[in-house]
Amino acid sequence: MKNVLIIGSTGQIGSELTMKLRDLYPASGIVAGYISGAEPKGDLLESGPAEIVDITDAPRIAEVVRKYNIDTIYNLAALLSAVAETRPQLAWKIGVGGLYNVLEVARENNCAVFTPSSIGSFGDATPHIQTPQDTIQRPKTIYGVTKVTGELLSDYYAHRFGVDTRSVRFPGLISYTTPPGGGTTDYAVDIYYSAIKGEKFHCPIKSGTFMDMMYMPDALRAAVEIMEADPSRLVHRNSFNIASMSFDPEIIYAKIKEYVPGFEMEYTPDPLRQAIADSWPDSLDDTCAREEWDWKPQYDLDAMTRDMLANLKKKLNPEKKFVEVK
Ligand code: SER
Repeated sequence: MKNVLIIGSTGQIGSELTMKLRDLYPASGIVAGYISGAEPKGDLLESGPAEIVDITDAPRIAEVVRKYNIDTIYNLAALLSAVAETRPQLAWKIGVGGLYNVLEVARENNCAVFTPSSIGSFGDATPHIQTPQDTIQRPKTIYGVTKVTGELLSDYYAHRFGVDTRSVRFPGLISYTTPPGGGTTDYAVDIYYSAIKGEKFHCPIKSGTFMDMMYMPDALRAAVEIMEADPSRLVHRNSFNIASMSFDPEIIYAKIKEYVPGFEMEYTPDPLRQAIADSWPDSLDDTCAREEWDWKPQYDLDAMTRDMLANLKKKLNPEKKFVEVK
């Protein structure tokens, strides 16, 4: 990885991945691609080049790739699961049409491509406990349909054209920098914001609904390590199960309460998100990622909770206006 284009650099993953890549590869050109209305700001804008790159505009992707002699593309453009259900046509246009554009530009310009897949690529018929790497993928959401299509199309470009495509299936990602928007796992981010603001949390997902989650530093490391992995060891490419923790709302609530004793939560179910969550695995088996590229998470629920609360306290509560955190 020398010159990298991040498409979707101002989103939940992109805003942190761009900065991480700039730290890791200071001599390289790490280009922050964004769309109009989601311009980079602050450190993201000041620490390196930024270009408008709309994933639905293939000639523009090619122009930026050639201008910066890009060798690796991180394709992070997507509508998350719940919002995609309200705009399925747009979800397909971005998730599949956009990926096709990226893969064609990569084929013509010899770029490697990372496109995340998701726990959303699984469905009701998938074994839900310790979901295997290779198993039934029949999602009912358009988000999941675009992710399965993306996995297949990326593998096709690898074996048919030799494009170096690799990816991981991200669990719900938890971070304090840029909020996610419109996902089913977003509650596990929102709950920390409520705790720090001293607000009662209205949980849209029912007690007993387990989903895989991951702290952003682990997710970013996975995105870098899979692209740096020795290709001769990779049996799989698109996409690897990765996992670090699985919990339901009661478990994360109890964990936060250890540090914010006055925190309260009540259930305000969201039928759309609940149906999506029920169709997703409870926990993934990530043995293949561990064996093929030495994947290993560093954060468990307790370590993540301490770090989230400490950082959100600095971000949202510098003058200790809301709650005290133990
Ligand atoms: N976090 C995503 C969502 O909830 C899943 O990959 O849509």
